[in-house]
Amino acid sequence: MYRDKTCGELRLADAGSKAKIAGWVQRARKLGGMTFVDVRDRYGITQVVFNNEINPELCEAANALGREYVVEIEGLVSERHSKNENIPTGEIEIIADSLKILNRSEIPPFTIEDNTDGGDDLRMKYRYLDLRRPCVRKNLELRHRMAFEIRRYLDSKGFLEIETPILVKSTPEGARDFVVPSRMNPGEFYALPQSPQLFKQLLMVSGYDRYFQIAKCFRDEDLRADRQPEFTQIDCEMSFVEQEDVIQMFEGLVKHIFKYVKGIDFTEPFPRMTWADAMRLYGSDKPDIRFGMPFVELTELAKGKGFSVADDAELTVGICVPGCATYTRKQIDELTDFVKRPQIGAKGLIWVKREAGGGIKSSVGKFYTPEQLGEWLDKAGAKEGDMLLVMTGDTMKVRKQLCELRLEMGNRLGLRDKNVFAPLWVIDFPLFEWDDETQRYYAMHHPFTSPNPEDIPLLHTDTGKVRATAYDIVVNGTELGGGSIRIHDAQLQDTMFELLGFTPEKAHEQFGFLMNAFKYGAPPHGGLALGFDRFVSILAGLDTIRDVIAFPKNNSGRDVMNESPSPIDNIQLDELYLEIKPVVKKG
Ligand code: AMO
Repeated sequence: MYRDKTCGELRLADAGSKAKIAGWVQRARKLGGMTFVDVRDRYGITQVVFNNEINPELCEAANALGREYVVEIEGLVSERHSKNENIPTGEIEIIADSLKILNRSEIPPFTIEDNTDGGDDLRMKYRYLDLRRPCVRKNLELRHRMAFEIRRYLDSKGFLEIETPILVKSTPEGARDFVVPSRMNPGEFYALPQSPQLFKQLLMVSGYDRYFQIAKCFRDEDLRADRQPEFTQIDCEMSFVEQEDVIQMFEGLVKHIFKYVKGIDFTEPFPRMTWADAMRLYGSDKPDIRFGMPFVELTELAKGKGFSVADDAELTVGICVPGCATYTRKQIDELTDFVKRPQIGAKGLIWVKREAGGGIKSSVGKFYTPEQLGEWLDKAGAKEGDMLLVMTGDTMKVRKQLCELRLEMGNRLGLRDKNVFAPLWVIDFPLFEWDDETQRYYAMHHPFTSPNPEDIPLLHTDTGKVRATAYDIVVNGTELGGGSIRIHDAQLQDTMFELLGFTPEKAHEQFGFLMNAFKYGAPPHGGLALGFDRFVSILAGLDTIRDVIAFPKNNSGRDVMNESPSPIDNIQLDELYLEIKPVVKKG
């Protein structure tokens, strides 16, 4: 037996008893005739003391210990003279009477503690050491607890967890697929699933009316703080449900998890906002409603006064920033630089201040009278001391840009507290999205999303206006999950494919198996998927989902620890009938 106690277990009540622990040497320090060794395992840290006077040989062995050596130590649990209130085991120490080195360690490339000296890249290269750090471990523990509780909750509601394949058929909609060549079928490929979408719909046809799966999904898309090429969904589907049933069920789950992890009781239903309102008021389909500063449209007030930028604009829109009329030239220049960054791409920023005492100052003062600017401020509800930040241009672009600025102002004013959670449902998404480049409609969600029944008459006449029966759940400006009621009527599905530019042959080639299944009695059904990594990272108060994934990829989609992706040898390529083309650099 290597141990009978963990390093996080011993308390004052254990003083006087014998204990045996095993773990890693966090640090060893010599103080006079004593050597103190902190031993760490998953559960905590325990201090061990070696006394040179009592056992010089053992003390010498302890002095030779290096960081991260694996040791087994036995001794007497004793009350500590100088107690450490910061750790649960801080009242005791073990007076060692045996020390066994189970393994030696090279000097680790960074210090293994929360406040490490290791940079991001180094920690990712040695992720197995990074994972020893308590703050990283805490995130994985939370992830485990949440997965467990989610399973328990859904089981109590009659959901069955059913696994679906990882090698699937490549489909063109959505993000780019990761593909896997088939050795047994030369020239043919599987794809890794972007989600279990089609399989869960098939399970509904099979009568498994409440399905869930904590499912790995794969998408070859550009990465961000909340996007990994492989990630995990809490994927769910239900039969004989309408939108309201799905929303109720998963609002229940989300509330339960908030209570379980954070002790937060959401007693009221989560607010709901239509997609159109979310775009109009926050410039985003995932508004952060922890704070106000809604958009105020000023298009009409700004037009026709000789300010050509606003005259030609589709939309002039602003936010009222409370208490910022005192912003200096320099501070405003910073904001202007912020919106001009290539990622945001605005041409400029207009400001109007209602100063203390009532005076009005503005960057566009030469085009508008104080009375006219006063109307802008009135419309935005600006009080003395407030500042209006205004942008102008094409509707969708300006909304996106002002959305970024609003979030930035929220950060600057400390309004985005990580301990405050503001969930909401965004509903009534458009069914289609027009793409100028390819001159065709795309499904905003996916091609199986049901139109809002009220809008079915518009499908052919006003396609872009048709609303979907689709919903997203948003928390603090992050899309936590999304779903929809699906089409279960074959004729409506055909219409949908037609509007999406699929010929019947193409639709059949891609989705024939689903369309065939639907000929055999598909029940009305719908569902949703929550991003599990995002859920954990929101509750852990983290900025990136990488911190809740044991072995994440970096922003170039690489695992720098095992150096993947990597080339494969010619034998493997030959087996797969593949040849590598030389990379031609663009531009
Ligand atoms: P959707 O594509 O909206 O819906 O995905 C559902 C949720 O998965 C999370 N997510 C991601 N998390 C990390 N990295 C990524 N690259 C990533 N992409 C998505 C988000 C998102 O809200 N089949 C549908 C669901 C349905 O209709 O039932 C689907 O996959 O939190």
